[in-house]
Amino acid sequence: MQSEKGDAVKVDPKRFLADLHQLRSFGASGIGKGVVRPAYSQADMDARAWLMERFEAAGLRAAVDAMGNTFGLAEGESLLMGSHSDSQPEGGWLDGALGVIAALEVARAAKEAGGPAISVVSFQDEEGRFGVTTGSAVWSGQMNLAQADGLTDHAGVPLAQARRAMAGMVTGEVDPGRFSGFVELHIEQGPTLDRSGEQIGVVTDIVGIRDMKITFEGQQNHAGTTPMHLRRDAFQAVSAFNTALNDRFRNVVTPTTVWTIGHVTLHPNASSIVPGRARFSMQWRDGDSERLDRMEGIIRETALQVADDMGLTLDYGPMLGLEPVAMDPRLRGALEQGAARVAPGLWRNMPSGALHDATNVSRLMPVAMLFVPSINGISHAFEEDTDEVDLVAGLEVLAHAAAALDQTSTR
Ligand code: GLV
Ligand code: MN
Ligand code: MN
Repeated sequence: MQSEKGDAVKVDPKRFLADLHQLRSFGASGIGKGVVRPAYSQADMDARAWLMERFEAAGLRAAVDAMGNTFGLAEGESLLMGSHSDSQPEGGWLDGALGVIAALEVARAAKEAGGPAISVVSFQDEEGRFGVTTGSAVWSGQMNLAQADGLTDHAGVPLAQARRAMAGMVTGEVDPGRFSGFVELHIEQGPTLDRSGEQIGVVTDIVGIRDMKITFEGQQNHAGTTPMHLRRDAFQAVSAFNTALNDRFRNVVTPTTVWTIGHVTLHPNASSIVPGRARFSMQWRDGDSERLDRMEGIIRETALQVADDMGLTLDYGPMLGLEPVAMDPRLRGALEQGAARVAPGLWRNMPSGALHDATNVSRLMPVAMLFVPSINGISHAFEEDTDEVDLVAGLEVLAHAAAALDQTSTR
């Protein structure tokens, strides 16, 4: 019999945890529970092939689009749930994986109960090997496939080439029109819930992001014979840029604004050579689009000034970004009701400082998100973890929301 509105879909926590651990085995790093499963790596593709089997076993139709976004489709109109199963180059076992496997369990349990109709997705390259949430960006129309194909990873591999490895798995495009909304469960990836001892965060908004690569080009030279005043050292430029930027941001940023230089390549990267070229990632995030734009202006002015002062040339890669997004009130309300039932007094509303596929999907349909705590607030690291009781609490809130949002329920 179909679940009634207000009653959760009856999920099986043991089966959910077993699948979550099984997904971890694809790309297990051997250090703690960490994984190495970047988009289009063999581990990522093996995990997606396994997910397709699990979807079919749950009575869903497995589908993979040209980007590698991997779906388990219910018949007719359905609510979409999920996240991503690719990881950072050094990633935790729950970032993305939790939302995919919790969605699988809710969809499977709902199917067994005769409804509601729930579909599952694992988006491709959420972690931005090539851009910013690339798979859902293409699926949502934020970016077209030709633009995505032109993106390269830090090693210079074009996305067009990387996704060829998945070509044999592609079944065709998946029409977003078949879904009534999207709900994503995720770990918080920050310290708020862990510190407060709460179990559930219902997301209000997701911050915006800007991300681009910057290159300083100077003169490669001998590190012993080139006097300091004659050098055009690309690393010195990065260092001067970073110091000046931190200073100039001071009057613009708020305590929640963040900015990161996370990847630097020096050429030729040798101890006895003055580096001739430095290419680095510049990423910044905030809940206010105008502030993001002002920060971009400061970044460009600062880089230009450093390049001029030091006699270097300056070049920018494509500017990638997503605007801040508010969650849909109806879907969010269903999560709040579920949180109040599953974790009375132990949940809160909160913004997301991390980026999620839900931002892109909000272009297509109503979206909402919920968080469970990250132990010590650690994520994007092998140490990432969450207590099992909190993982199951997240699953149960999702199961409540699935029943509450069921359009066909009689109650
Ligand atoms: C996604 O993982 C992000 O960087 O926020
Ligand atoms: Mn994630
Ligand atoms: Mn992540």
